[in-house]
Amino acid sequence: MKIKMILKHSFILALLLTLPVFIYAQELNPIQLPTPKTEGGKPLMQALKERKSMREFSVKELPLQVLSDLLWAADGINRPESALRTAPSAMEMQEIDIYVAKADGLYLYNTKENLLIPVAADDIRALTGKQPFVKDAALNLIYVADLTKMSRLSAVDADFYAAADTGFISENVYLYCSSFGLATVVRGFMDKPALAKAMKLRQDQKIILAQTVGYPKE
Ligand SMILES: Cc1cc2nc3c(=O)[nH]c(=O)nc-3n(C[C@H](O)[C@H](O)[C@H](O)COP(=O)(O)O)c2cc1C
Repeated sequence: MKIKMILKHSFILALLLTLPVFIYAQELNPIQLPTPKTEGGKPLMQALKERKSMREFSVKELPLQVLSDLLWAADGINRPESALRTAPSAMEMQEIDIYVAKADGLYLYNTKENLLIPVAADDIRALTGKQPFVKDAALNLIYVADLTKMSRLSAVDADFYAAADTGFISENVYLYCSSFGLATVVRGFMDKPALAKAMKLRQDQKIILAQTVGYPKE
């Protein structure tokens, strides 16, 4: 009888402790990004001269305008009449989704609406890689292939095109960062199954690479 009472109280206590997390998860709101500023920055040749991987980041957050500009540079729509993007895409499959892991949670970038759609209200930055800086940097972008958009291809071809398409997006991010004084590094070193679980990915989604972005450490 006494054990039953203890169990009942422990259950209620556990429920009360987890409730705020649950409510918070429900409350992560979509973020409407400001219209991207598509001008400015260093000229292309200078950005290329300065492009490099950096692995020391400030913990400072990126303003929403910078986030919007960065994501537009990565794979935003640059020809609204056809909805084509800043990065090329094999057979126009547009199969690479960009997930954004920030301190407040995980979001999916919706290119057409210029919107960050909430996925999880957890800070999963530490899970996006095995290097210590990933947990402190403002952002970790995770490039995920939607295999449902590649179903007509063999597995080998799907892997090849997903990797190639991700490379273009990643290089756009590198060039944006070198043009606007941000630090970045693209990364393959991570525990993909653990990350896919934390991201609540479907079986038909595949993590290709991650890329850390933030202000350089002062
Ligand atoms: C596909 C790919 C995967 C990479 N994975 C990692 C990684 O997991 N961690 C890391 O610190 N750098 C990673 N890098 C960055 C390379 O180490 C870096 O590009 C290389 O050292 C050359 O330096 P640079 O980018 O400054 O020219 C990766 C680069 C590529 C292209």
